[in-house]
Amino acid sequence: MSNKPSVLVTGGGKGLGLAVIKRLLEGTAKSPAANVCTLTFDVSDDFEKLQTKYSDSLFYTQGDVTKFEDSKKIVDETLNRWKRLDAVVINAGLTELKPLKELDFDTIMKTLGVNTAASVNTIRAALPSLRESNGRVVFVNSSSSYLCHATWASYSASKAALNAIAKTLANEEDKVSAFTVGPGHVDTSMQGKIRNTDGNMEKLYEEGKLLPPEKPAAVLASLAVRGSRSAPKKDGEPLANGSFVAWDDPSLSDYHE
Ligand SMILES: NC(=O)c1ccc[n+]([C@@H]2O[C@H](COP(=O)([O-])OP(=O)(O)OC[C@H]3O[C@@H](n4cnc5c(N)ncnc54)[C@H](OP(=O)(O)O)[C@@H]3O)[C@@H](O)[C@H]2O)c1
Repeated sequence: MSNKPSVLVTGGGKGLGLAVIKRLLEGTAKSPAANVCTLTFDVSDDFEKLQTKYSDSLFYTQGDVTKFEDSKKIVDETLNRWKRLDAVVINAGLTELKPLKELDFDTIMKTLGVNTAASVNTIRAALPSLRESNGRVVFVNSSSSYLCHATWASYSASKAALNAIAKTLANEEDKVSAFTVGPGHVDTSMQGKIRNTDGNMEKLYEEGKLLPPEKPAAVLASLAVRGSRSAPKKDGEPLANGSFVAWDDPSLSDYHE
């Protein structure tokens, strides 16, 4: 068995997921370096560079989070290589912004499929190992889950439902921690896509207010290797109960580096 923790990040070929992977591989003074794998559609040049540097500690499977067999395959491969799985970061996601008067059934089902229902595939495949490791599931959520701005119905609904899955996991599994984190407005290709439709996002971009992915990624990575059923806490309650928390909430101040 590897002496490093091992973490599965979904959708880690680019964007926020890739920044989480980089931080996990590097480790910090407080967080041990981890072995990492990702299930994703495609990988970027930056991912390939990272894989060359960390050839023993990083691999990916090209696949679709909405297919259970792809989740099972990457979990099996992780256990083959490192004999342990300590955390899963539910990160793969997409956005389709449309007002309700134009929102068709297939669009909303696609969003719910990737952003919400696919999390169940990853969790189900990983759960036996996470129980053994007293492991963690870190859900990448969004303030959209409760803000529900115009045109965001399918995305907001998908993230609100993901909150319900996180809380249910915490209620069902007494050995597994469930963290739900909103990463803020992050400068990724997802933002590039939505700023054509949402003027508020365009404004944030023009004013230079989007976050570099590394900032929220540090918190997500730290929770994946250091979070527990008892810490961190917010208002006296452990955040491992699946409650939503923003990445820059003071309760997470110890998890920023
Ligand atoms: N960016 C923000 O401001 C922001 C704010 C709040 C929450 N979030 C959340 O953060 C997470 C990451 O978003 P991001 O901004 O980094 O977006 P991104 O740059 O578009 O990255 C999303 C990743 O998910 C992968 N993916 C999508 N569907 C998949 C599927 N069915 N199977 C496997 N992989 C799939 C993509 O692969 P391909 O590129 O190959 O399609 C990509 O690697 C998402 O859950 C998003 O909702 C982002």
